[in-house]
Amino acid sequence: MLDQLEAQAPDALLALIKMYAQDPRDDKIDLGVGVYRTNDGATPVFRSIKAAEQRLVDTQDSKSYLGPEGDTGFVDAMKPYLFGDDAGIRGRLEGMQTPGGTGAVRLAVALAKAAGVTRVHLGVPSWPNHAQILRDVGVETVTFRHARANGTADTDALLETIANARETDAILLHGCCHNPTGIDYTADDWGRIAKALADKGILPILDVAYHGLGQGLEEDVAGVRTVLVKVPEALVAYSCDKNFGLYRDRVGAFYMVARSSSGLPAIVSNANALARANWSMPPDHGGAAVRTVLCDEGLTTQWLEELDEMRARMRRVRERLAAADNEAPGLNLAMLGEQNGLFAMLPLSKDQIVKLREDHGIYMAGSGRINVAGLHAGNTDQFIAALADVTRQ
Ligand code: LMR
Repeated sequence: MLDQLEAQAPDALLALIKMYAQDPRDDKIDLGVGVYRTNDGATPVFRSIKAAEQRLVDTQDSKSYLGPEGDTGFVDAMKPYLFGDDAGIRGRLEGMQTPGGTGAVRLAVALAKAAGVTRVHLGVPSWPNHAQILRDVGVETVTFRHARANGTADTDALLETIANARETDAILLHGCCHNPTGIDYTADDWGRIAKALADKGILPILDVAYHGLGQGLEEDVAGVRTVLVKVPEALVAYSCDKNFGLYRDRVGAFYMVARSSSGLPAIVSNANALARANWSMPPDHGGAAVRTVLCDEGLTTQWLEELDEMRARMRRVRERLAAADNEAPGLNLAMLGEQNGLFAMLPLSKDQIVKLREDHGIYMAGSGRINVAGLHAGNTDQFIAALADVTRQ
């Protein structure tokens, strides 16, 4: 039976981690998978998380099961950061913990499917795992163009998609720091998107995986909030991988906004049942650490400072790249200064991407996506010179 299976290519992004590790060059640069790096190229555990973990070790007295909803203290502690003064949705909002943002996206799609959604609209390019999840859960993916060649969001394409959508469609949108382009909708765009979604009544699935890494914690979710106060119902997938540096601990949350408070329990019960069948319960440790940070004023302040530091550093890298626009003409580096988060897409050919890797030890996704956090004062000039080299011919 099992020999009927066809071999699958390894996930290209994750394969890049191994290729990079095997490269013996001292001056190699990793711009592949989306992890934050410091000026020294390290991805350290947040100081606030370390302190919270120590507290957990000292005080946690049981590791007994919690249930498919996970640590509800964590889920609730995240709410003010994500939903602010949730006046527009109070009483219609419930959440649960998930294994990473991926678990939350998967749960959102599976729940939408259980509710009758047959197609999901997805702006492309998108995080490659979005399409994989949609395929695996068994809904049809309908694509629309996310960005224009000039480096801005193609909001018209999105509005047209919404206008032409069917009643049983859902739409998957990135809340902020679009992966892979870094190109976000403006506040004005979000207003138009929210209105279009409300007029049409299709289900929005909002993926918030980089909260706090764009313009700020409040700014990054302003668009999501604009949508949530307008639409009757919505699903939100949230990741703490990047903004708490908990990548491998798999910390995410899934929030459901129902049409009415009376309809909420049935929705939540379905999400619980799907979670139980998928992973039974989420891993506890990372969520408990986030809850510990958010329930302590001192640790929260420390976390906010750490996040500010990350955001400011990435802004500096983006500004340096934008200033190098003339050094690698045709790549539109100037627009990187306007974009947000860890990622940007460079219009490089496959050959140029291979040349960057083989001749210069620079590793990036095959799509031309770079993780700007892989750059710092010590390697940005080297990267710009390499771009100039491969774009020269
Ligand atoms: C990325 O896009 O690099 C991250 O979201 C990591 C992942 O799981 O793909």
